[in-house]
Amino acid sequence: MSGKRVLLLGGGGREHAMAWKLSQSSQLDQLFISPGNPGTANHGINIELNNSNFSLIEQFVEQENIDLIIVGPEQPLVDGIADYFADKNIAVFGPSKIAAQLEGSKEFAKDFMQAYSIPTADFKTFTADNFDDASEYTKSKGSYPVVLKADGLAGGKGVFICKDQDETDARLDQLQTDQKLKEAASTLVVEEFMEGEEASVFVISDGKDYKILHNAQDHKRIGEGDTGLNTGGMGAYSPAPIMSDEMLKRVDREIIKPTIDGMKKDGHPYKGVLYVGLMITEHGPKVVEYNCRFGDPECQVILPPLKNDLLELILSCVNGDIQSKDIELDDNYYCCVVMASEGYPTSYEKGKVISGIDTIDSDSIAFHAGTKLDNDTLITSGGRVLSIVGKGDSLQAAIDHAYKNLEKVTFSNNYFRSDIGKKGLEKLS
Ligand code: AMP
Ligand code: GLY
Repeated sequence: MSGKRVLLLGGGGREHAMAWKLSQSSQLDQLFISPGNPGTANHGINIELNNSNFSLIEQFVEQENIDLIIVGPEQPLVDGIADYFADKNIAVFGPSKIAAQLEGSKEFAKDFMQAYSIPTADFKTFTADNFDDASEYTKSKGSYPVVLKADGLAGGKGVFICKDQDETDARLDQLQTDQKLKEAASTLVVEEFMEGEEASVFVISDGKDYKILHNAQDHKRIGEGDTGLNTGGMGAYSPAPIMSDEMLKRVDREIIKPTIDGMKKDGHPYKGVLYVGLMITEHGPKVVEYNCRFGDPECQVILPPLKNDLLELILSCVNGDIQSKDIELDDNYYCCVVMASEGYPTSYEKGKVISGIDTIDSDSIAFHAGTKLDNDTLITSGGRVLSIVGKGDSLQAAIDHAYKNLEKVTFSNNYFRSDIGKKGLEKLS
């Protein structure tokens, strides 16, 4: 069989991890990454396409005889890239526009879970013209904190956990007036607050069958001890000790299987990576959210232990025979610490010189995100700059390894959390 010519869309730490893993595939002929970053350039050819302009992508795909498009981030999927290329006989790894609504619309996801009795927080939906009713509703419930979620994609900025009615009313106001949130919040989900610990499970599905890839725990808040603003994710570790074999079986039985089966039954078979964000509550696992892609930075800790050829798994999904594959993982723990620009997730400076990447241990990995080359000098170009991944035969060893290597990398005004993995250690003790 001839090797595959693959176009990977995206340019963050997740896509560097994907490019790194895809480049190890025996099935790969050539990898292109749009737009990629200086890290992905070590594993393929970076190409600056507009990832929301599908007809321009199509021109490139024809020009370069691309066999397969792999989509890193959610936006092109929610915008229907899989449907666009389905008519054109180009394989796309990722769900259809409707199936991607599991991430693209919180209302769609909640209605779907309700229809299939998949455990999640109780909720009620409101439209922008009846936010007064939303306020009345939370008042009548009188249970705080309460969670407000803009229905559409909001880059992680559309979820508010409100401690009392005053905060709820202030946030309802903000959701109606903030130009950046207004569109995503034309529909609003008001949700019960779930107490517990979060974990993420990653599944790869061909629409009929699926395999669980791995699990991880993210750290979404900017500050130590999970305080401060929400971010894209400041670090992750895998596996998550809270995801015992028994818990994973329960998640599979109560959540993953009904999700894949339900989507198939509804006529929207889910093909691609399904990322299930969970809250492990005293009443068992419940879905916080679905995402239609790998997580970032979770991808950086779940691909290194994967022994399978990622491209082979992806091709199995595209060809509808994932059932024939067995997922094989190594026995190590992995910890990823994100080095960010001071000020992220609000405002921060760019253009700081990065040094020391070439001095990290050979079994540690620095995945690039907000970096760029200025002539031959590597400089910062974004909020989340690098993901430093350490491995070890215990969670503590993986954490130590990540931080030891992180200290070798410097750029001015860098910021990182020093407590990544701490929650996992507490669970183990
Ligand atoms: P989401 O975008 O839905 O994942 O929400 C972002 C973050 O808000 C989650 O990772 C949780 O930390 C928190 N969150 C969302 N919904 C709930 C909920 N119902 N109960 C408690 N925390 C929640
Ligand atoms: N790390 C969270 C996400 O990728 O959505």
